[in-house]
Amino acid sequence: MAKAKTAFVCSDCGSDYHKWQGQCSDCGAWNTLSEIRLTAAKSSGRAPAGRSQGFAGELAPARVLSEIDVSEVQRIPTGMAEFDRVLGGGLVPGSAILLGGNPGAGKSTLLLQACCQLASRMPALYVTGEESPQQIAMRAQRLSLPLDQLKLMAETNVEAILAALDTHQPKLLVVDSIQVVYSEELSSAPGSVSQVRDCAATLTRAAKQRGIVLLLVGHVTKDGSLAGPKVLEHMIDCSVLLESSDDQRFRTLRGQKNRFGAVNELGIFAMTELGLREVRNPSAIFLERGEKQSSGSVVMVVWEGTRPLLVEIQALVDDSPLGNPRRLAVGLEQNRLAMLLAILHRHGGLQVGDQDVFANVVGGVRVLETSVDLALLLAIVSSFRDRPLPRDLVVFGEVGLAGEIRPVPSGQERLAEAAKHGFTRAIVPKGNAPKTSPPGMQVHAVATLAEALALDL
Ligand code: TYD
Ligand code: MG
Repeated sequence: MAKAKTAFVCSDCGSDYHKWQGQCSDCGAWNTLSEIRLTAAKSSGRAPAGRSQGFAGELAPARVLSEIDVSEVQRIPTGMAEFDRVLGGGLVPGSAILLGGNPGAGKSTLLLQACCQLASRMPALYVTGEESPQQIAMRAQRLSLPLDQLKLMAETNVEAILAALDTHQPKLLVVDSIQVVYSEELSSAPGSVSQVRDCAATLTRAAKQRGIVLLLVGHVTKDGSLAGPKVLEHMIDCSVLLESSDDQRFRTLRGQKNRFGAVNELGIFAMTELGLREVRNPSAIFLERGEKQSSGSVVMVVWEGTRPLLVEIQALVDDSPLGNPRRLAVGLEQNRLAMLLAILHRHGGLQVGDQDVFANVVGGVRVLETSVDLALLLAIVSSFRDRPLPRDLVVFGEVGLAGEIRPVPSGQERLAEAAKHGFTRAIVPKGNAPKTSPPGMQVHAVATLAEALALDL
C-alpha cells in the first residue's frame, strides 16, 4: 500500500511545508506547524486512445474565449440591496462565498434574513453548527421572517451535510460556521486548519458540481484576520467581512475578494431590535453633527467601491506630557498619520513634535484611501490652532512627500455627492478641478499643501 502523503500546515496562517520546522517562515509564528494527511486525488479512469502517455484524465476541450457562453451567469438577488451591492449584484450559482466577522457582528442574522427571503424562490438549506434549531426558529419568528420555506439542520459533520444535499437538493446552502464543521476522515480536531481547509474544499467542490450557492460563515481571529485565511482564500469565489465594534449601531459589509465583481464595495446596515436594516443613504448618518462647529473636524468624501460616502474626520492635537508624544489613528492608517505629520512640519511649517495627535473617523468607518490626507491635515491644523473650519466645507486630496496635492479618482462624483448634501465650499486637488463647479458650490483647487493652508476660509 502506498504511504499516505502528509504535509505540515501552520495553524496561524495556513502556509504548508514538506518538512516540520519550528517556526513558520511565512508568518513567523513558533510551534504552529502540525501534520495533516493529504487525501489522495482519485484518478478518473482510463486514458482515451491516441492520447500521449502520462496523462490518464479526461481532456477538457480548449476553446477561444469568444466561443464560451457567458450569458448564462445570472445573478440571484438576495432581496437586500446592500448585500447584493457587495456581492457584485447578487449570488452566482455554483459559487462559494465566505462571510467573515467577529462574534456578535450579525453574520447569522444577516444570512437568516437573506435565506428566509430567498427560500421562497429557490430551495434553501441552513446548516447550523453553533446555535440550536430552536434558537434560530425563535429568532426568525421574532424578526417576522417567512418561516415556511427554509429548511434548517443542526449538523457539524461534513459527510452528513453532503448526504443532506442529496436528500434535500437545495440550491442555496448556508454553513454556520465553517470552523465547527469536521470530517471523520481527518484525525485533527474541529476548528484546526486542516479540518477547516478540507471541509471547505469538500463543500466548495460539492457546490460547484451541483450549481449550489454556498455561503460559509467564518469567525475572525483576534487580530482581525479570518482563521486560516490563506487556506480558504484560493478556494472561495468571494469573501466579505461584516464589521462592527461593541458600541456601534452600524455594521459595514465589505468585499475583500470577489471573482464576480468589484472589491472595496461597502454595504451599510443598522442593527435594530428587528434585525439588520439596510441603510440606503449612509452619508446622512455619518454626517449627523451637532449644531456647533468645533475645531479639528472636517468632512471628506471617500470613494467606496462604486459610490461616494461623506464622512467626518476629527483630529485632536494637545500638549503631550510624554517624552515621546502619542500618535493615534482610529479608522485610519497609523503610519500614514506619522508621514503626514512629517509633511506638515516640512512643507506646512507647523511643528507638532511635542504634541499628542489623535485622529478619528466618526461612525466607526475605516478609511483606507489616500484621498483622506488633505482632510486629515486640515483637521490637525484646525485643532492645533483651535480655529474651526467652516461647516459647509468638504475636502479631499492625496498629499505627496514633496507637499504637493495629488488628484484622486472620481473627483467629479465626489463633488456632486457633497453638493447633494448641501456643502457649498470644497478644497480639492488642482488635478480634480472641475470645468464647471456643481451649482451653488465654490471650489478651491490647490496644488500644494502651503496653498491649502493659506486659504482664507
Ligand atoms: P448574530 O447574528 O448572532 O451574530 P454572529 O452570528 O455574527 O455571531 O448577532 C448577534 C448580535 O446581534 C447580538 O449581540 C444581538 C444583536 N441583535 C440585535 O440587536 N437585534 C436583533 O434583532 C438580532 C437578531 C440580533
Ligand atoms: Mg452566529
